[in-house]
Amino acid sequence: MKKISILGTGVMGNAIGQAYLKAGYNTTVWNRTLQKAEALVSSGANLAKTEKELILEGDLIISAVATYDNLIEILDPIEIDWKTKILINISSGTTQQARDFGEFAQKRNIPYLDAAAMSGVKRVGHKEGLFLFSGDYSYFEKAKPLLEVLGSPAYLGSDFGLTPLYDNALFTLAWGSLIGFYHASALIAAEGQQAGRFAALAANHTPFLNALFKEHAEAIGTGIYPNDDGNIEIHKSAMEHVKALSEEKNIGTDFPSFIIDILSRTEKMGLGDSGIASVIEAIKKDHAK
Ligand SMILES: NC(=O)c1ccc[n+]([C@@H]2O[C@H](COP(=O)([O-])OP(=O)(O)OC[C@H]3O[C@@H](n4cnc5c(N)ncnc54)[C@H](OP(=O)(O)O)[C@@H]3O)[C@@H](O)[C@H]2O)c1
Repeated sequence: MKKISILGTGVMGNAIGQAYLKAGYNTTVWNRTLQKAEALVSSGANLAKTEKELILEGDLIISAVATYDNLIEILDPIEIDWKTKILINISSGTTQQARDFGEFAQKRNIPYLDAAAMSGVKRVGHKEGLFLFSGDYSYFEKAKPLLEVLGSPAYLGSDFGLTPLYDNALFTLAWGSLIGFYHASALIAAEGQQAGRFAALAANHTPFLNALFKEHAEAIGTGIYPNDDGNIEIHKSAMEHVKALSEEKNIGTDFPSFIIDILSRTEKMGLGDSGIASVIEAIKKDHAK
């Protein structure tokens, strides 16, 4: 496998194309709106006149169009022999959409890997860029040297739904951490402190959080929640301090209120003295609240 074809050169498709060009690969691009392919063509990419021409040109076809449905619409009328090719689709979606697309690909004998880009655009082409893949392992193995050009590829399993599942899970984790960071930064800014100083301090705190992920995953697995990191009641009163401080500083209280709400629901389930991982019980029962 040597030749790369990029279907869709929006923000992500452009970053992917640039990474392959920088690594010296023969890269062909196609985009519905021609202007958005121009940056890649100026960097040395070939421009395909049609979607079909693009696919015929490449060994590895990477789709970065917005949705699974967009890709179905594009591929549906195209009849070619995919035998020596591999299709990779980076668009985000749900597990159902990925499984439905997987079925579509299998019916057309398209060797397919579902994919997700986890580290934004700037890290594409660098080791820090995490990419997830699911589908037939032999396709992953065959494409791996090319996938390593994008960053660090991780194979999750043959079920196409695994990619969007872990994509959405990591996205949830990122937002959970970031919303805490943004609220904390607003708090310290209200006292004239710099977010950069806080970020440096926070970086030293993340090993502790990593340790909690591991320990609390064990608790979630067993359904037994040791309270050695404090119980639900203690954490609720600590979060009430965050809310009170936020009110004092005239900043939003959405974030502490949201946490207090989950902790209160956990408490109402009789888990007030349980460890904090027991909030998962309230989250799982959300529909019954
Ligand atoms: N940007 C990121 O940081 C990032 C990170 C992880 C995952 N992703 C995922 O990657 C995918 C692309 O994201 P992006 O940021 O590159 O979005 P984008 O800049 O908005 O690009 C969207 C691409 O989809 C094409 N497209 C949309 N509808 C189409 C249609 N009906 N037919 C043909 N082409 C169509 C667009 O073509 P036109 O130029 O003609 O509109 C463009 O090439 C999304 O699923 C996104 O969730 C993005």
